[in-house]
Amino acid sequence: MRYVRLDTAKPLSRIGLGTWQFGSREWGYGPDYERLAATIVRRAVELGVTFFDTAEIYGFGRSERLLGAALAADRDKVAIATKILPVLPVASVVQQRAVASAARLGVTGIDLYQVHKPNPAVSDHRTMRGMRALQDVGLVAEVGVSSYSLRRWQVAEAALGRRVLSNQVRYSMLDRKPEEDLLGYAEQAGRLVIAYSPLAQGFLSGRYDANHPPVGAIRRANPYFLPENLERGSALIETLRQVAAAHDATPSQIALAYVLRHPNVVAIPGASSVEQLERNAAAAEIDLTEDEYAALVNAARAFRPVTGLAAVPRLIRSRTRG
Ligand SMILES: NC(=O)c1ccc[n+]([C@@H]2O[C@H](COP(=O)([O-])OP(=O)(O)OC[C@H]3O[C@@H](n4cnc5c(N)ncnc54)[C@H](OP(=O)(O)O)[C@@H]3O)[C@@H](O)[C@H]2O)c1
Repeated sequence: MRYVRLDTAKPLSRIGLGTWQFGSREWGYGPDYERLAATIVRRAVELGVTFFDTAEIYGFGRSERLLGAALAADRDKVAIATKILPVLPVASVVQQRAVASAARLGVTGIDLYQVHKPNPAVSDHRTMRGMRALQDVGLVAEVGVSSYSLRRWQVAEAALGRRVLSNQVRYSMLDRKPEEDLLGYAEQAGRLVIAYSPLAQGFLSGRYDANHPPVGAIRRANPYFLPENLERGSALIETLRQVAAAHDATPSQIALAYVLRHPNVVAIPGASSVEQLERNAAAAEIDLTEDEYAALVNAARAFRPVTGLAAVPRLIRSRTRG
């Protein structure tokens, strides 16, 4: 395993584990997945994974509970990140919700407490006042945000009066917007970009095609899995396979190596099996050559999926069909 070079209290592994899937039926993993989830977490610790991401909203608290229980023996070794859903994120609410998350996780301190999304109506000054108080009493070690623009990330830092360590954003070969400014800022200022959906929810694994789309409500609502987009993506998947062959690796591992090419990035893939987790952890060791990286960039740029408003009628049609 490789670790980020940042002065955090605990080392942060470059491959973490995302746990939205834990306790969330919408992923379609069935009732046995909860037991498997604990095995996935324990195997992750064995492989040197030290960064675990959850949120109070995942499974309405179930993900925090499952993760906390599975990490019970290893809490001092690993960093647990959770998130507040910012419905009314004024200082007092932020403080109450952190206490509730810590109780579900079974911890006395949250290593990274993140604002799940920017709130359009409540200013970061009010939210960060709560975060500062939580840091002052030692309940929260580091503060983070999610899906923030660079500008708003910096406003949040000014409001906190301290570093806002991380910005968790959608970042994969299909969603490369963070490359425009967030990655550069993180590198220059000693901050972290946490890449969520780094496999584009499994699209980049190459497991799915127009005749075999994934199950579950989450991915039925994701335009990347429209039959048309799965077809359009076949050239990109082929490039991933070619690069993977040179590393005796899988397309997913190469997709993870792509985002890890930038130093201040941690990727937090979810996993539906222990084997996936093992492969994901091993991806931290893959170094892409310049030529391979260029080939991946070109293939990613050439992929033109149907997204946004144009995808809506197609999503409705594909839902009513199946
Ligand atoms: N901050 C936010 O707003 C936000 C939003 C979304 C996610 N997140 C966080 O980011 C984490 C990851 O994002 P995500 O779960 O949306 O997407 P992801 O990590 O890109 O995709 C996860 C899915 O990909 C498949 N997969 C994983 N490893 C694989 C492997 N080695 N080979 C083949 N397939 C593999 C699995 O599904 P199948 O096996 O079923 O194909 C798995 O459930 C979440 O768990 C959550 O913690 C945060």
